[in-house]
Amino acid sequence: MVKNFYITTPIYYPSAKPHMGHAYSSIIADFFARFKKIDGFDVNFLTGTDEHGLKIQRAAEKKGLDTLKFCDEISKTFRDLSKTLNLTNTDFIRTTEKRHQKSVQHLWKELKKNDDIYLSKYSGWYSVSDEAFYTDDEIEELNGKKVAITSKSPVEWLDEESYFFRLSKWEKPLLDYYNKNPDFISPKTRKNEVISFVKGGLKDLSVSRKSFSWGIPVPDDNKHVIYVWLDALTNYISALNYPNTDDELYKKFWPANIHLIGKDILRFHAVYWPAFLLAAKIPLPKKIYGHGWILSGDEKMSKSKGNILDPIEIIDQYGLDPLRYYLIKEVSFGNDGNISQDKLEDCINSDLANNFGNLCQRVTAFAEKNCEGKIPNNIEFNNDDLKILDKFKDNIDLIRKKIDELDINFYIDFIISSLFETNKYFNDQEPWKKKDDIKRLNTIVYTTLEVVRKISFMLYPIIPQSSLNALKIFSINESEIDYSSINDHNFLNGGNTIHKIDILFKKIEKKND
Ligand code: MSP
Repeated sequence: MVKNFYITTPIYYPSAKPHMGHAYSSIIADFFARFKKIDGFDVNFLTGTDEHGLKIQRAAEKKGLDTLKFCDEISKTFRDLSKTLNLTNTDFIRTTEKRHQKSVQHLWKELKKNDDIYLSKYSGWYSVSDEAFYTDDEIEELNGKKVAITSKSPVEWLDEESYFFRLSKWEKPLLDYYNKNPDFISPKTRKNEVISFVKGGLKDLSVSRKSFSWGIPVPDDNKHVIYVWLDALTNYISALNYPNTDDELYKKFWPANIHLIGKDILRFHAVYWPAFLLAAKIPLPKKIYGHGWILSGDEKMSKSKGNILDPIEIIDQYGLDPLRYYLIKEVSFGNDGNISQDKLEDCINSDLANNFGNLCQRVTAFAEKNCEGKIPNNIEFNNDDLKILDKFKDNIDLIRKKIDELDINFYIDFIISSLFETNKYFNDQEPWKKKDDIKRLNTIVYTTLEVVRKISFMLYPIIPQSSLNALKIFSINESEIDYSSINDHNFLNGGNTIHKIDILFKKIEKKND
């Protein structure tokens, strides 16, 4: 059976260099992409940069740079970050690319053809920072300035000719769709917010701008550029070569399995995007997940607040895998979370160095001395061994189901409890006291190694490089990692050499220790 999986991150505004919030979305998407890959799926994983609109035009002007040159520079820092974060993205799209422009203009024409776009005039509030329109009741006054209530971004008054998308027409079909597809929007609390927003009544949406030119021209009326969100959202299909719906990529990967986004942009993805797609008679993505924010102090990070956390600084200080582990474990998925240096150091010392790293060192050192440095051959499992091995077999499908429900917390808890139990098993079994019962000693070592192998497979989506480092014990390389083999109790070949590995994680000396 062909198993395809398509996951996307938001495409990031290259108005300033990337921060921890961007890194978070990308790392979470990479977690799912890697899991699906080792579970036998053909994975398409898209990320990129959203380069049009007034926000970017003004940022470039401020630097005195040509807008495209400015985008080239900052987009590159996002592309570089993808590498630094060890993402497995299969594509990186820029909305200034030809393939994208062609796709957006085609979608526009489809909407126009179906009478979903008409020319009128927009009078109302606009936030350049959010690239969003707001109604009177969505704004407030803060320090003498009008701002959007939700984002606190300044708004300005617009009065200009604009094309409109008949969003109001799609109110009922959207509500029907949410109703028939209860898993379309997650998590649940955010889904309810979206539904009440739609139930509150949808107004037609302004989808072009006339007062600046940094955008994709409206077909047949190049005094207008296409609204940056209609432009940006289309990236998810332009990367699959839409409008060529016969294209291999499009046929294989559309509709997407997951659009992973931050909660701040849920309305665009769960209301506008599906409405555009319904209007253009294009199938809808299967799931939209709006995750929480990484807070700096108690606030969302933003350039204007000057509270940006730089992922590169943390990586330079602690390494990439500890950061990935921390973001996946300590930020309860769906909720907001903080980066605390103290907790990050605890993760490294306790989970990574003690529970995982030490276990690997301990069992290999023991096997080196007592099993001639080889994976034991002569073994016979008893109930204690089977109990710890069976845990993986018994949960293999449940874990898959939880992954499809995007329950990262379940996944990480499973690993942590397995590590705890394996350490306890090795201690309780006391193989060092079994030197006169070689078969038992061999079986304990084999069982422990087998569990280390299973856990390393499961850690691959979270801390890929460290997982590969651990798997060097068995000379297992990346292409051999196969999730479905975690139910195999006899995966490791007896007689094979056990390789000594370097320390996986160095403990941090904490100031208050
Ligand atoms: N360009 C739009 C998205 C278009 S998608 C078709 C945009 N860009 S953004 O750069 O401002 O933010 C993109 C995403 O970065 C957010 O939705 C979120 O996923 C992530 N984050 C930005 N700041 C964040 C935090 N402080 N915390 C967690 N994620 C945040 O919106």
